[in-house]
Amino acid sequence: MQDAGSFKRKIRTFYRSQGRDLPWRRTRDPYRILVSEIMLQQTQVDRVKSFYENFIKRFPDIKSLAHAKKSDVLRAWQGLGYNRRALSLRETARIVTEEYGGALPRERETLESFPGIGPYTAGAIRAFAFGEPEVFIETNIRRVFIHFFFSRRDEVGDHEILPLVEKTLDRKDPRAWYFALMDYGAMLGVAAEINPNRRSAHYVRQSKFIGSDREIRGKILRLVLARKKMTMDELVDAIPQPKDRIMKITVALSREGFLKKRSNMISL
Ligand code: ADE
Repeated sequence: MQDAGSFKRKIRTFYRSQGRDLPWRRTRDPYRILVSEIMLQQTQVDRVKSFYENFIKRFPDIKSLAHAKKSDVLRAWQGLGYNRRALSLRETARIVTEEYGGALPRERETLESFPGIGPYTAGAIRAFAFGEPEVFIETNIRRVFIHFFFSRRDEVGDHEILPLVEKTLDRKDPRAWYFALMDYGAMLGVAAEINPNRRSAHYVRQSKFIGSDREIRGKILRLVLARKKMTMDELVDAIPQPKDRIMKITVALSREGFLKKRSNMISL
């Protein structure tokens, strides 16, 4: 068991010498923070960096994203994966532009009512953009607390961790404190022999990407983005998978609003 004081000292000392300088940490612009947090939801920091910078160049403010064509947004997202996030982000930009005068609100409930924003992302936006002393948890933060406070436990629930997050939170500077926690957690993810998050009650192993529906979804979308229009047969020729599988995934993509499928013609 750790006392809170020495825990905080360790995290801070680590951060002073090894904290990461990341592009979205240099801003307090709520829109930029929103973009980065949505990208970081399911993608590693190193991959997000270049996508984030290109995306912000292409859509520098919330209005430009609100008015963007779906295909342009998907194109800027291409390669990041989990494309649904791109559509949710654009939809949030639209709602904020139309109903909130273009200023991202800071209230937790309002943020959580937007597509793609759950409790973690709302908390992160509140802490990083507005400096609010929010209590939240994500994979790196979880790893740190399990490592320090639950060293002999299995099946640690987030409900057990959250009170510790609250107790140790730096209310004067929640931004820097959370950055430090995240960096320490990322380090543990690489350095620890056994990932402490395996002892979380919420641990789910990342499923394999190769051969997954997610991989095929990405392939289909990339092809249609490049060619704008193609027939089902062309799609089947281009992807080495059984026709019924490609068909099923295309129908799902169409239902979710990524593309249009009219009988045999697929378009954006
Ligand atoms: N800095 C700000 N948000 C972050 C996140 N979700 N992951 C890693 N570093 C971050």
